Amino acid sequence: MTTETQTESEESFGDGLFGGDDAGDPYERYEALRRDTPVTRMGESFWAVSKYEDVVAILRDSDTFSSIVGAKAISGEEPASGMIFNDPPMHTRLRGLIQKAFTPRVVEEQRPAVQAYCDELVDKMLAEEETDLVASLAYPLPVMVIANMLGVADGDMATFKRWSDVIIQNIGPSLLMGDDSGVASTRVEFDAYFSKRLDLLREKPDGSLLSELVHVETEEGRLTQEELLMFCVLLLVAGNETTTGLIINAMRAFSEFPAVMTEVRDDLDLIPAAVEEALRYYAPFQATIRRASKDLELRGQKIAKDDRILVLLASANRDEDVFEDPKEFRLDRGNNKHVAFGFGIHSCVGAPLARMEGGIVLRTLLPRIRSVTLLDTDAGEMLLPGGPSSLRVRFEPA
Ligand code: HEM
Repeated sequence: MTTETQTESEESFGDGLFGGDDAGDPYERYEALRRDTPVTRMGESFWAVSKYEDVVAILRDSDTFSSIVGAKAISGEEPASGMIFNDPPMHTRLRGLIQKAFTPRVVEEQRPAVQAYCDELVDKMLAEEETDLVASLAYPLPVMVIANMLGVADGDMATFKRWSDVIIQNIGPSLLMGDDSGVASTRVEFDAYFSKRLDLLREKPDGSLLSELVHVETEEGRLTQEELLMFCVLLLVAGNETTTGLIINAMRAFSEFPAVMTEVRDDLDLIPAAVEEALRYYAPFQATIRRASKDLELRGQKIAKDDRILVLLASANRDEDVFEDPKEFRLDRGNNKHVAFGFGIHSCVGAPLARMEGGIVLRTLLPRIRSVTLLDTDAGEMLLPGGPSSLRVRFEPA
């Protein structure tokens, strides 16, 4: 329910813009925004920015455009916590710790495990004529990979999915309005599960990423329990749902551009270019958010201190001033400068892992199929954070 102090756009965290029940194609709305009102007022203290140039300028300038956007942090009720919605120096410290887990070498070490999970899921998936792409591959693969890295591969993946869905669906109210009612009971379950794991790891380290984080010593001492739980949420939720989105979106693009899919099947060296173009074409994380740390002006619009800005990554990726034929899915973009992983100090730390997972999916699947057809296509739901809860597809075997 929208209260008097909440604007519609705050409540839905941009649902009306990039998805939701009444959504058509959000990319048509982005195109209109870029053309007519690149800096758009969406509510009393809420803006949306749609041009590539502005998106990059905002993400580059973390002093002016703060990531501390949570209602409770802005009001001073609570200190900003976590990494993604935080600024230096706290962000720098947390990022320095987590980044070690995602260096190209560490990620490369995951390759055999990712390939094994993928083989198993694809074998099972292709045994059926029609399948739910989300349930059979796009959700389980990323969650298995991250659970394996965290050392909780013996956990219940269906429960992780339920937690993940609730947290991501409530991110708008929870973060922007400080209303945790939709997510409170899930967080209790989540925190109880991971607190127990963390206690076990304190006594008995097991070499997993979580174990390393429990024992890491920084200049300020060890990570607090709250910081550790935040890492678990971030990795299990943000990293999963977006990689699920990448797998869905790549298949969606191939269903719409079958000739491109054939080209990639015939030359698997084109897979990295196809992954980048899938990220550009349908960004899994359509938008991020920043807060103006002072009064400022952008394209003639007066943005007040503490106004929040929806930074439309998906729109920037289709900006006709930057990408030739932006509505075409092309493998020859060379330096594909998409911002699907963000830009600047918060740019995605999990990008090497996501790229590897996307590449392994295509390398495993493409030689075994001739085409893919989406059987239910709700374009709106497809692009909401977390993507559709199910997606029936038919693969024509090779
Ligand atoms: C295709 C998949 C993915 C996409 C599209 C994606 C997208 C993004 C974007 C756009 C940001 C920046 C947010 C901002 O600036 O406010 C981000 C940050 C982040 N991502 Fe990803 N992500 C993906 C996969 C992953 C994976 C697999 C992980 C880890 C397992 C991960 C972990 C993170 C973390 C920890 C941050 C916060 C970085 C920071 O605040 O410095 N992501 N991601």
